[in-house]
Amino acid sequence: MIGIFYFSSTGNSLYISNMIREKIGGKIIYIPTYTGDGSEFEKIIVVSPIYSSGLPVHVYDFLPRLDHERELFIVLNYGGMIGGADYFAYAYAQQNRLNVKGIFTIKMPENYTLTFTVPKFYLKHILDSADKRIEKVIAKIACGDSTLPRKKKTKEKIYYKNKANWHLIGERFSVQEDCIGCGKCVGLCPAQNISMENGKITFGNGCVACLGCYHRCPQKAIRYLRKKKKDRYINPRIDEKSIGKNMDEI
Ligand SMILES: Cc1cc2nc3c(=O)[nH]c(=O)nc-3n(C[C@H](O)[C@H](O)[C@H](O)COP(=O)(O)O)c2cc1C
Repeated sequence: MIGIFYFSSTGNSLYISNMIREKIGGKIIYIPTYTGDGSEFEKIIVVSPIYSSGLPVHVYDFLPRLDHERELFIVLNYGGMIGGADYFAYAYAQQNRLNVKGIFTIKMPENYTLTFTVPKFYLKHILDSADKRIEKVIAKIACGDSTLPRKKKTKEKIYYKNKANWHLIGERFSVQEDCIGCGKCVGLCPAQNISMENGKITFGNGCVACLGCYHRCPQKAIRYLRKKKKDRYINPRIDEKSIGKNMDEI
């Protein structure tokens, strides 16, 4: 069986994982709650967003744990700039002696939208174009196509600098009075960085900058730097409640 491991805060990576499962089968597993090494699977596919030209903390920490003998394919998705993340992921997998066979990139809607807004018509266009690209990537994985990045330029220094500062993002969030105390943000935070004390939401200093709480709060009560920005992003083609869940083979 294929193990489809994903990290996702706003559903794009889960959307891609769902398509992979529909076309070639496999079990979908949410990386932050998985403790194994993937050796129960014949083949491993990791589906991850690109963060600052590199990988989210949970994916970065997960890859070295994987069984070295399993064939590994990494499917990265991004909002606008790969910035050498494909080569970075390849080099990182090699450093960790993983049996990496393919690295693919797919453009999806941007979710790092703390300071700007993506127009709705453009979102639809990106999603429609993504479907074609996802199908091509799945076909390549299905036939075991070895597709590895050639361009060796990465933004490794910027990535490590940003990664070291992601924990500060939580400090820039504030919760407005529209908060209904539902606790959804507490449950969805992959870093267990949000708590509710006496009915009040508090952020710790372990934020991994995924922005899941910001985008998925039903009241849009979480603000960044107190900006009154109204738009939020959740992939419209998935069931939002399934983000963070595992799914058995169909
Ligand atoms: C902290 C952070 C950093 C990001 N950095 C990049 C980046 O360097 N380049 C890019 O094109 N998109 C970047 N993005 C956007 C995501 O990669 C993109 O929207 C992805 O599809 C989100 O996947 P998800 O919905 O599964 O979480 C970033 C998003 C976050 C939250």
